[in-house]
Amino acid sequence: DKGNFDYYMLKEIYEEPTIIEKTICNFTKNHFDLTRYNHVDIVACGSSYHVGLLVKYWIEQLLNISTNVEIASEYRYKKLIVQDNSLTIIISQSGETADSLAAIKIAKILKIPTLAIVNVIDSSIAREADNIIYTKAGKEVSVATTKAYIAQLLSMALLIENNKALFEGLPKELSHIIDNKMEDITQFAYQLYQSEHIYFLGRGVDYAIAMEGALKIKEISYIHCEAYAAGEIKHGTIALIEKNTPVIAIVTDNNIREKTISNMKEVSSRGANVLAITNEDILDFNNKIIVNKLPMIIQPFNIILILQLLAFQIAKLKGCSIDKPKNLAKSVTVE
Ligand code: F6R
Repeated sequence: DKGNFDYYMLKEIYEEPTIIEKTICNFTKNHFDLTRYNHVDIVACGSSYHVGLLVKYWIEQLLNISTNVEIASEYRYKKLIVQDNSLTIIISQSGETADSLAAIKIAKILKIPTLAIVNVIDSSIAREADNIIYTKAGKEVSVATTKAYIAQLLSMALLIENNKALFEGLPKELSHIIDNKMEDITQFAYQLYQSEHIYFLGRGVDYAIAMEGALKIKEISYIHCEAYAAGEIKHGTIALIEKNTPVIAIVTDNNIREKTISNMKEVSSRGANVLAITNEDILDFNNKIIVNKLPMIIQPFNIILILQLLAFQIAKLKGCSIDKPKNLAKSVTVE
């Protein structure tokens, strides 16, 4: 039931603050101790894979554990070098994705301990896993994942930080975006919805976030959209920049902020229309959405919410079938 909403996707995005509250509430200290391991492999598909890409930065930075992220359809067919004392984490909303299921079976054959982050109780991946953390997103109907992505990210963040108190302000933070940033987001959507191509730039965690933002726009708006590590553009991609090419830059990481800003200037001087999403004002750029500055492990949540809402607004302006995009299924149970 969509309730008062015209689209499941929007309804599910609006559920995020409540889901975050529930996830924090349900988290028990020492749920699972990641620090026992010397190496982590994260294996998943699509948006769940993008959660892995982001979480890698956290595990390496905060726990000092080397982390490798693999697309499940790649992991299952390549030679695996088993690291000493390693853990394989499988992330899946449905718990039924064929390649992710195959990957967990392979990890088990290789006697690597497994942890599954799944949303659907008693799903195939949940049944295979040595350890399970259930995300508390509830049933997700929209093909494009939003609330389940947030629940996966938060479950991993809690596991890494092991401190609920740090996350208590997060539901309010997301509600604040929903209540106050819709106009800015719609204004961005108007600039973007007629584009043929949209590029994203970011570094570090911002790059991982950008990849999810690009996928969201691609799948529901059918606009070609790619994310690039900002430092890579001069190795090829900058050749694509023309007058008015839209480039969305994500700038939240303080350590590499100036580096990304210099890449934004490079594309801007070649005519790009740069749209910045940032947690600190960037004086040289006028076209921007500024969000609150938050601790490192909390910051991605408000950026992702903006990108989910942006994808939604673009698809709406284009008149696309938002909840059921063409060619896509909610659960990919075949290879
Ligand atoms: C994108 C999306 C897909 C899924 C992917 C994995 O919005 O929903 O990319 O993330 O198919 O699905 P799960 O998480 O069910 O394994």
